[in-house]
Amino acid sequence: MEKIDGLEKERRFCKHGFEHGLNVARIAYAYLLEKGELLLSKESIYAAAFLHDIGRWVEYETGEDHAVASARLALPLLEVCRFNSDDIQVILNGILEHRRHPEDNLTTLGEALALADDWARDCRHCSLQDLCYKYNQTMNQVMY
Ligand SMILES: [Fe+2]
Ligand SMILES: [Fe+2]
Repeated sequence: MEKIDGLEKERRFCKHGFEHGLNVARIAYAYLLEKGELLLSKESIYAAAFLHDIGRWVEYETGEDHAVASARLALPLLEVCRFNSDDIQVILNGILEHRRHPEDNLTTLGEALALADDWARDCRHCSLQDLCYKYNQTMNQVMY
């Protein structure tokens, strides 16, 4: 995350550091709680959210899709934190799916992360609305 912070120092659009991860975690957890689909532990949801963009620096440096890089980088961290193999697979799938459209056929966690990723942005008050490709997508997203 320090690497991402450094590479995004001059970035004018939304950043992808700790605060973004925390916002996505809180929103994804609340979304799943309200939907009555809390089949995963809070720890798994928060881990997925904190790690979903951890590969951003790889994308900046190599062009690789950061969802793929994030899942790869997340695996050893999840193992060190002793998540069981079933939970790790669910978390990695969620990370891989977080950039896809929430209405695609996503896993429950993937859908929650994709929605929370959009809802975590304060597009309504952003001065870069005209320049941001995410603006229309996020503003047109139905809030459940
Ligand atoms: Fe992302
Ligand atoms: Fe994100």
